[in-house]
Amino acid sequence: MQIIHTVAALRKALEHQSQVGFVPTMGNLHDGHIRLVALAKQHASCVVVSIFVNPLQFGAHEDFSSYPRTLEADCQKLEAAGADIVFAPEVHEMYPDFDGRQLNQSMTISPPPLASAWCGATRPDHFSGVATVVMKLFNIVQPNIAVFGKKDYQQLLVIKEMVKQFNLSIEMVAAETMREDSGLAMSSRNGYLSPEQKAIAPQLHQVIRHIVHQVRQGDHHFSVLERCAAEQLTRQGWVVDYISICSADSLTPATEVDKHLVVLAAAKLGKTRLIDNIDFMR
Ligand code: PAF
Repeated sequence: MQIIHTVAALRKALEHQSQVGFVPTMGNLHDGHIRLVALAKQHASCVVVSIFVNPLQFGAHEDFSSYPRTLEADCQKLEAAGADIVFAPEVHEMYPDFDGRQLNQSMTISPPPLASAWCGATRPDHFSGVATVVMKLFNIVQPNIAVFGKKDYQQLLVIKEMVKQFNLSIEMVAAETMREDSGLAMSSRNGYLSPEQKAIAPQLHQVIRHIVHQVRQGDHHFSVLERCAAEQLTRQGWVVDYISICSADSLTPATEVDKHLVVLAAAKLGKTRLIDNIDFMR
């Protein structure tokens, strides 16, 4: 496995590759990421994994500076998983004019309307930062396929929409969310949780599952279900950002005619913001 830090060296390494699979990450890898690599290997003869903590997608008071950087351990895991190339650029390689706070000259991507609700409402520049870095990474790696986890469901739809609208010739592969035995969705941010918080963190998944169950049973009182779930989490010590039953394709609030639905949720335990979702047919 090669570990490459510059765009020029990566381009050289990929010169003669015909079927490239790509898994973008911010590092601090867990089994969920390794599953994405395994999926990419099923579709491609050369798998590139990027590790880049992207400053553009963090708000001013978010965890950009404290986000865990664990390159050596990540590379060991990726080597064992059979990745071919790790692309781990420094910030100035990706954004030559980044001054520590913002870009001064570079263009950014305006995300589609579905990025403005849910996580986009509380993290206003987040999806522009995600779309910009993913567009740059796509242009650098030029993959045939790219694998993204469903755990970041809104992100997945934003990137799918970007691929469609910019006519990128990349097949998007979505991977199911990996969970701990408790049901807690695997996330790099789970490492911020205290043992007490970790014990109650699976409640987020439990309330989502309860809503899915109720909807499948024929309950159409979506706003009541959402409110009860939010109240339950609040009683248990969470600060709820949103919990919402949506159309799985547009992320607009679900209506009775929608068949493919997703329950999206984001809530904080102490300072740690967790997100989770389940998409399902009814
Ligand atoms: O999901 C992530 O880890 C990041 O948002 C991504 C897609 C690597 C872009 O920085």
